[in-house]
Amino acid sequence: MSAAIPIKDKAGIAKMREACAAAATVLARLGPLVRPGVTTQDLEEAGREIIAAVGARSACYGYQHGSRRYPAHTCISVNEEVVHGIPSLRRVLRDGDIVSLDIVVELNGWIGDNAATFPVGPVPPAVAKLLRVTREALDIGIRQAQVGQRIGDISAAIQQFVEKNGFSVVREMVGHGVGRSMHEPPEIPNFGKRGAGAKIAPGMTFAIEPMVNLGGHATKTLADGWTHVTSDGSPSAHFEHTVLTTERGPEILTIPH
Ligand code: MF3
Ligand code: CO
Repeated sequence: MSAAIPIKDKAGIAKMREACAAAATVLARLGPLVRPGVTTQDLEEAGREIIAAVGARSACYGYQHGSRRYPAHTCISVNEEVVHGIPSLRRVLRDGDIVSLDIVVELNGWIGDNAATFPVGPVPPAVAKLLRVTREALDIGIRQAQVGQRIGDISAAIQQFVEKNGFSVVREMVGHGVGRSMHEPPEIPNFGKRGAGAKIAPGMTFAIEPMVNLGGHATKTLADGWTHVTSDGSPSAHFEHTVLTTERGPEILTIPH
């Protein structure tokens, strides 16, 4: 038996809307700062300031995993880094890089979570396709978040679309419920079987987040304990929205005001 999926009432949904709009605003303002010559630490500092400017708090800073605490306000993952890259003064962005920004904020006790991958200058055609396919895989997954369907319907739709396009989905990290805490039930893998998993009901809030590798699906964690990279060194993309399930269908909450 897996743990119950929290259902948000009207008041909770209103708070989720605010937190998610804040997270989306931060991502929308930070994305355009991705350009050649900028360090990932520059993006971290801009991100920290924008999070404060929207009146929110980073849910990543100090986030505990085992005995470690995440040391930054943003997660910034370049090229073969899949997720949870730590911003660094030494990482200077160059033409042809891709940069995933993952922004998780808390506002009035509720969490908004979203991510996107940006190209730095021109990128090779296969990498441009990786970004397009991952972005579209997110849309395809969201479309499956219908009341009465199951979590596995989201997972299977994402996996099928990604693999049909010749790429692979990461197994070690998954999407998740989100609400008062960053990670709630259910887990939302980007791989799986149609009809499997928990049934979707109104008032659930999901972080749907395909992580897609140009090469093989395997990943490993670097010695810093946070940065996940592809085992084969191939580039990886990540797009994420927080979504509310309703009787009228899924609603993306991570849209800027
Ligand atoms: N969106 C990421 C996640 O769901 C954010 C992690 S914050 C970190 O895992 F502190 F763990 F990096
Ligand atoms: Co997430």
